[in-house]
Amino acid sequence: MAAPFRKQRSDFMAKTTVLTGITTTGTPHLGNYVGAIKPAIASSHASDVDSYYFLADYHALIKCHDPDVIQKSTLEIAATWLALGLDTTRSVFYRQSDIPEITELTWLLTCHTAKGLMNRAHAYKAAVQENVDAGEDPDFALAMGLFSYPILMAADILMFNAQQVPVGRDQVQHLEMTRDIAQRFNHHFGELFVLPEAVVDDNVAVLPGQDGRKMSKSYNNTIPIFLPEKKLRKSIMRIVTNSLEPGEPKDPDDSTLFAVYAAFANPEQRAGMREAYAGGIGWGDAKQKTFELINTELAPARERYQELMERPEDIEEVLVAGASKARAYATPFLQRVRHAIGIRPLD
Ligand code: TRP
Repeated sequence: MAAPFRKQRSDFMAKTTVLTGITTTGTPHLGNYVGAIKPAIASSHASDVDSYYFLADYHALIKCHDPDVIQKSTLEIAATWLALGLDTTRSVFYRQSDIPEITELTWLLTCHTAKGLMNRAHAYKAAVQENVDAGEDPDFALAMGLFSYPILMAADILMFNAQQVPVGRDQVQHLEMTRDIAQRFNHHFGELFVLPEAVVDDNVAVLPGQDGRKMSKSYNNTIPIFLPEKKLRKSIMRIVTNSLEPGEPKDPDDSTLFAVYAAFANPEQRAGMREAYAGGIGWGDAKQKTFELINTELAPARERYQELMERPEDIEEVLVAGASKARAYATPFLQRVRHAIGIRPLD
């Protein structure tokens, strides 16, 4: 039988499938914005891509056990993407938990994923190491969800045969694992899955937070995307700098503030700011310029965001529509996978 739901070579030549997910814990911050949301939205407008963007609420359950936080964060993230201009007519925008095929595929993959592969996951290893360092049992307070996290992520990606997955550098290992899992599955059951590639933008992938470490909720150093203007300015003023005075040359490559600026700047602006650092720009000035650059980029979307947050029912509607588009692909494709591994009708 012809395979109507399997991507054909001609489809590949015509369009690239791009997919990424955002875990719904916490309020989206500038690190999420430059690392994932911005490139994703840009590609949602390109006509040569099929894009899939989703709210990874099942991933959120691993780290967050507060139901209200999960719900609020799902709303905030959806509103953020829509406010920033995600094109939901061209792209498929959905909530992971609305696609039961993803959890089903997760189990099918789980049965063919080496435990040893999961043992090597950075996130899991770090959690074990923390326990060991604290003199606890290595598995103290660790849920299976954390251990199996990369398999759920593989299912997210393989479900739609994504070719490119824009992610932060910390997720590259998960993409390698996804390829491993897909390869093993393909080897046993035929070429079902496309092997995806991580797409990491070297200029902006890891945005530092106010303290110079990677901007991350777990370091408590984040700057939310849609802070009111005054608060945004204050947050940027709090970015760490050294004690060099105005007039003294500064090293942009050793500056958190410059890294933040660079993440929002075009190449010319970046080069200009490099010169300003070499020429001894004062930190106060450099911060003000950084604030202005970021604020100019975000101000129009900030207003749309406020409007959207007041209409959660509209957002819900967008997500339901997105889920039905996603399932139009996922349902028949999962059927093929089930068949391939022997989950079949008996006649
Ligand atoms: N694990 C990703 C993160 O923490 C989120 C995510 C879940 C994801 N599933 C995905 C990203 C699939 C890309 C593709 O950032």
